[in-house]
Amino acid sequence: MGARRESELLERDRKAEHIQLALEKRMQSDRSFWDDWAFDHVALPEVDWAEIDTSVSFLGRTLRAPLLISCMTGGTGAAKQINQNLAIAAEQCQVAIGLGSQRKALEDHAQARTFQIREQAPTVPLIGNLGAVQLNYGFGIAECEACVSMIGADALALHLNPLQEAIQPEGQCDFSGLLARIGETARGLSVPVIVKEIGCGLSGDVGRALAEQGVRYLDTAGLGGTSWARIEAHRAGDPSLGEVFANWGVPTPESVQALASIPEVTVIGSGGIRNGLDTAKALALGADVAGAAYPFLDAAVESPEAVVARIEHTIEELRISMFCTGARTIAELRRTRLGKKTPK
Ligand SMILES: Cc1cc2nc3c(=O)[nH]c(=O)nc-3n(C[C@H](O)[C@H](O)[C@H](O)COP(=O)(O)O)c2cc1C
Repeated sequence: MGARRESELLERDRKAEHIQLALEKRMQSDRSFWDDWAFDHVALPEVDWAEIDTSVSFLGRTLRAPLLISCMTGGTGAAKQINQNLAIAAEQCQVAIGLGSQRKALEDHAQARTFQIREQAPTVPLIGNLGAVQLNYGFGIAECEACVSMIGADALALHLNPLQEAIQPEGQCDFSGLLARIGETARGLSVPVIVKEIGCGLSGDVGRALAEQGVRYLDTAGLGGTSWARIEAHRAGDPSLGEVFANWGVPTPESVQALASIPEVTVIGSGGIRNGLDTAKALALGADVAGAAYPFLDAAVESPEAVVARIEHTIEELRISMFCTGARTIAELRRTRLGKKTPK
């Protein structure tokens, strides 16, 4: 077997292993930080349930609710079905959807079809994806544009994942000079660039540095949800390494607050968002949209209907949170008071 073919198979296995492991609850970090926060209950909300409006605009399109199915997969047979199920549901519910890293499809064009879901999701924001570190390994604007045109994307997410790269067996760890390259890409690409983490969060300092480079969309992907330390350490055959770093990173609520204070930046709050109440809390702390990956993965393995049910449940919980805080619109919810609980 040629070296290229062998590495292709390894890569394909990697994607399948990620899906398999991410489905396991023990690959989540130890706790959700959303439980540290609570809304003031408003017993007299002076709101008619029927007039609650959860719609927002995002990436030039209108969403029925400020929800994003976070970037997950592509590049393997199972991923095609998962992406199609997610896309059908995103379109039906009118929420945004992201795809997993498209690097595989740039290297092997046959894999592009596992990412191509525009037909199933013609009217919602669709986000492409690439590891930012690839900008240090030969990729540039041309490859980023190829990702965008491959799927008809409204934006391209570049993910930052130093902890994952450091732990995973095939990690690429030259992150030097990356900020400037991300800036060049953000300023030169035909669609907006979103910079996201994958579960360790973006700090205020990193967010400000990116904003100074012209990045206008930041996704926290903070600590409190899927643990890539656990997943990659498991793949590397060293689970104890994953335990050392399982709770490494910026907790999502902290990351949302830090990024929301940066002018002219749209903030996606994600990482450990598991229901509509967590979604409401992320919005009240300053996020414009909330994203989640893990809660949609098992549903996507099942069927589009299962994903629709998960999204509808989340929207219902968001509406209840709005009703009981007296918020008619997402703009009003974002002005609502959210208090940090004092530890017992
Ligand atoms: C199976 C799986 C694959 C993922 N692959 C990618 C990826 O290719 N690119 C990326 O930016 N993030 C990827 N992520 C990270 C998610 O987009 C998200 O940032 C992270 O899982 C935190 O959200 P969660 O706690 O709701 O899962 C993946 C997540 C899962 C569960």
